[in-house]
Order: sequence, then C-alpha cells, then structure tokens
Amino acid sequence: IPKGIDLIAEINKLRKEKNAIILAHYYQTGDIQDIADYLGDSLQLARAAEKTDADMIVFCGVHFMAETAKIVNPTKKVVLPDTLAGCSLADSCSGEGLREMRKQYPNAIVISYINCDSTVKAESDIIVTSSNAEHIINALPIDQEIIFAPDKNLGAYLNQVTGRKMILWNGACYVHEAFSLERIAQQMLDNPKAKLIAHPEAKAPLLKVAIYVGSTSNLLNYVVEDSSTEYIVATEEGILHEMQKKAPNKKLIPALVNDKSCNCGECAFMKLNTMQKLYLCMKYELPEITLDEDLRIKALQPINRMLEMSK
Ligand code: 13P
Ligand code: SF4
Repeated sequence: IPKGIDLIAEINKLRKEKNAIILAHYYQTGDIQDIADYLGDSLQLARAAEKTDADMIVFCGVHFMAETAKIVNPTKKVVLPDTLAGCSLADSCSGEGLREMRKQYPNAIVISYINCDSTVKAESDIIVTSSNAEHIINALPIDQEIIFAPDKNLGAYLNQVTGRKMILWNGACYVHEAFSLERIAQQMLDNPKAKLIAHPEAKAPLLKVAIYVGSTSNLLNYVVEDSSTEYIVATEEGILHEMQKKAPNKKLIPALVNDKSCNCGECAFMKLNTMQKLYLCMKYELPEITLDEDLRIKALQPINRMLEMSK
C-alpha cells in the first residue's frame, strides 16, 4: 500500500467503481463499522447479503458469515478481507461429526447456530441465530427431540428459556467463555448503578446474573431504549462503538475477562480485518469465497427455513 494513501477515499472510490456493498458485523473495528454500507448482527447481515443487488459483497466479519452470504446470494462475488478470520465456535464442529451424532438420535432434528461452516449447515434441518433461536425453537412441537449445535452455552440458555431438553454439541466461543464472573462482580460493586447485559454465548452463571441477555443487535437496542444510564456489557468489545454512538450520554463498561492483562473481551478473528486489508481485498477482489454447488444447495435449505420462520 503506498505511504500516505487516503484509505477512506480509496475504499469509497472502489465501492463505486465496482458496485460493491460493504457489510460489517458489530465486532469489527470502529473504522470498518463507520465505512460500512450496512452494519448488523448475524441475522441482519445474512438478510442484507440475500437481498443486495451489488456485484460484489465485501464481508467484514468472520469466514462463516461471508460463506453464509455466498450461500444465500451465489451469483455475487463475496470477498473477506482476511481469509484467516475464523471462529472458535464454528471450528468446534464438522459436518461429519454432526452426522455421526445424528445417528445416535434418529428421531431428532438438528438445529444449528449460524456460527458453523457450510458442511455443518448442510447436515442441519434449521439454522438459527441468537436473534431468532428462541422464537424458532418455540414454534416446534413440544415433544420434538432436538440436537443443538455447536454452542453448548447458547444451547443451555435456550433449554432454560424454552423449557426444552435439547441435546447439545460440545462447542463454545472462546471470547464469551473468558468473561470472569469474579471480576464482573467487582465491576458491579464499583458501579452500583450499572446493569449487567450479556450475549447468550456466555456461560450460564454469568447469564443468570445478567439483567438482560440478547444478540448483539438486541443488546444495542436494549441500551438505546432502556431508561438506565450505565451498563456493563458482556460481549465482544466492538459493539461498544455503535452503542456509544447511538447512546452518547450513557456510560458503557466493557465486562472484564479472566486474563488480567486484557480490559475487555476481544475476538482476535474479527480483529484480523483491518482498513488496509479491506482496501486490498476490494482492489484485487481477493480472497474470494467459493463453494461447491451441491454443498451450497444443501446448506441453503436450513438457512431458508430460518429466514421463513423468523419473518
Ligand atoms: P450476533 O448474531 O448476536 O451478532 O452474534 C455473532 C457472534 O459471532 C457472537 O459471537
Ligand atoms: Fe466466533 Fe466468538 Fe469470535 Fe463470535 S466472538 S466470531 S463466536 S470466536
């Protein structure tokens, strides 16, 4: 990249020239969130990818999100600034493993959290995100046996709020598992007016003490609409950027993690994307997400079921 280049101006130029749309997740760095055409949670981004008529989707998020964009809108070129932007949760499960698990429970349907790769989606009956999982599970017959993959923490939380006994895959998000209940308890003592809010990928003891549990967009809306003025936010710190923009007068405190050298939970995968890489990926249209067509069609069915069930 030439020294002194105005990355914002160059990205804007490329966006126009190439008829590209930039989609960004709330966990991206602030500069990427600010330049995006559309900022959202996993469900909102999947919907935006599905309905765009841009020629190129530039996905600032992690690999499974960009892959989902390609699954729902295959005629578009989908690029991701850093192909190594993975997800510990998605990596914990494989299509093959899920097929094996399914054999043990032949009457169960498989619900998978969107944080999984295309092989897992292809083995699933319905995909859910943290925005619509409770609603979708509640719409199923009460005696329906369900396997839930890959997030055991989200699965346990959903079991609790829906009264189901879903069989859980043993996967987790390393960022949300790292929140320290002990250090958060101290934060609550130090900030007695602050309400603790959390993403459902966090562990059960933390979710139990949280006043509100929701997806990134739900947490954002909660802070904007709620009448309190202080919050301890237990999810990836990137969300605080948009939260503070939308609620400028509120005090937002990132929840502390076990590692005492960190002041917040940060997803190293999400943070692999940078403005420099975004510029290069738009210029060279690489790295591109490609998918085998048979696999794509299989992975699309459970996503479509989700989109229909969460209208
Ligand atoms: P949301 O769907 O709530 O945005 O969550 C995505 C994610 O990766 C959480 O770790
Ligand atoms: Fe995956 Fe966790 Fe990062 Fe979300 S925060 S992308 S679940 S590793």
